[in-house]
Amino acid sequence: MDPRSEVLLRQAELFSGPLLLAGLPADDLLSHLPDAHGWSWHAGEHALLANRFTQRCHFGTQPGEREFQAAVVFLPKSRELTDYLLNALAARLAGRELFLVGEKRAGIERAAKQLGVFGQARKLDSARHCQLWQVRIEHAPAAPDLHSLAQRYQLQLPDGPLNVLSLPGVFSHGRLDVGSALLLEHLNDLPSGHILDFGCGAGVLGAALKRRYPDSEVTLLDVDAFAVESSRLTLAANALQAEVISGDGIDAAPSGLSAILSNPPFHQGVHTHYHASEHLLREASKHLASGGELRLVANSFLKYPPLIEQHLGPCRTLIDAKGFRIYRALKG
Ligand SMILES: C[S@@+](CC[C@H](N)C(=O)[O-])C[C@H]1O[C@@H](n2cnc3c(N)ncnc32)[C@H](O)[C@@H]1O
Repeated sequence: MDPRSEVLLRQAELFSGPLLLAGLPADDLLSHLPDAHGWSWHAGEHALLANRFTQRCHFGTQPGEREFQAAVVFLPKSRELTDYLLNALAARLAGRELFLVGEKRAGIERAAKQLGVFGQARKLDSARHCQLWQVRIEHAPAAPDLHSLAQRYQLQLPDGPLNVLSLPGVFSHGRLDVGSALLLEHLNDLPSGHILDFGCGAGVLGAALKRRYPDSEVTLLDVDAFAVESSRLTLAANALQAEVISGDGIDAAPSGLSAILSNPPFHQGVHTHYHASEHLLREASKHLASGGELRLVANSFLKYPPLIEQHLGPCRTLIDAKGFRIYRALKG
């Protein structure tokens, strides 16, 4: 059981009515709270929950239509996303209770200050390195319009300006990552056909690919519903058409790909996980057509080449600059 869920269950009497659990972990919590419903924006966690608790969890960027009498936000990493979640839920909870739970090292103490705009916040519990906060909504805000919270910037690329829109919580919100910038400079000579942007974030690489290779089919894939939504906004802002899918890991990708391009994930929440990236390197060959290419950018300190060579084939370093490397390997 996730420690944040354990802390909630220490006060289970507070959570017995219709409750919305926003960003809940994929654990046993729903089995202890029979009137609770989950809202997840992580495709992998949602799949686990939906499998176990049929019809008791939805996936997406919105709290959903279902009525609830109280809500709990599991503190996400991003302050902007926390702000969106709290406002989206407080808008539906005038006179009722909103809770915030999170790990101390994830910044719960600081985040709890964001509750102050809705009413008098108080700390209910502190245990398992977590804190649980509560506020009765005295000043209910208007429901936020998610798209109006998108940050927009424009990149000057050799083939023209590219508009990028990113929603709260999405990687490199409102600015271009240094690794992604390097990869954007090295999009030449990809085998055309069907190209995948794995871990698409705001869709900057996928959109640039679609414009560069208009005759190729381009698919963008991300585990995060806010990233998927951002990618759709970015494509639309550039009048580009490509498929955007949500899914956890390369297993969710189509097969027969001519190329996989990625700035793969390596941070998740307060923990560092390489799982999705290592799994990508191991399994890429199953999704590539013969002659297909894996091209990725990674921090120079990440030891990806041995894994790539073991599972795909000889790995070339196309460039080593600004602390990042671009690797390229072909399926034989
Ligand atoms: C380093 S960011 C790159 C984002 C974007 N391509 C860019 O260049 O700005 C990695 C992305 O991978 C996504 N991600 C993390 N774990 C994933 C998984 N298991 N499956 C698919 N995408 C994942 C994250 O949500 C994030 O958007």
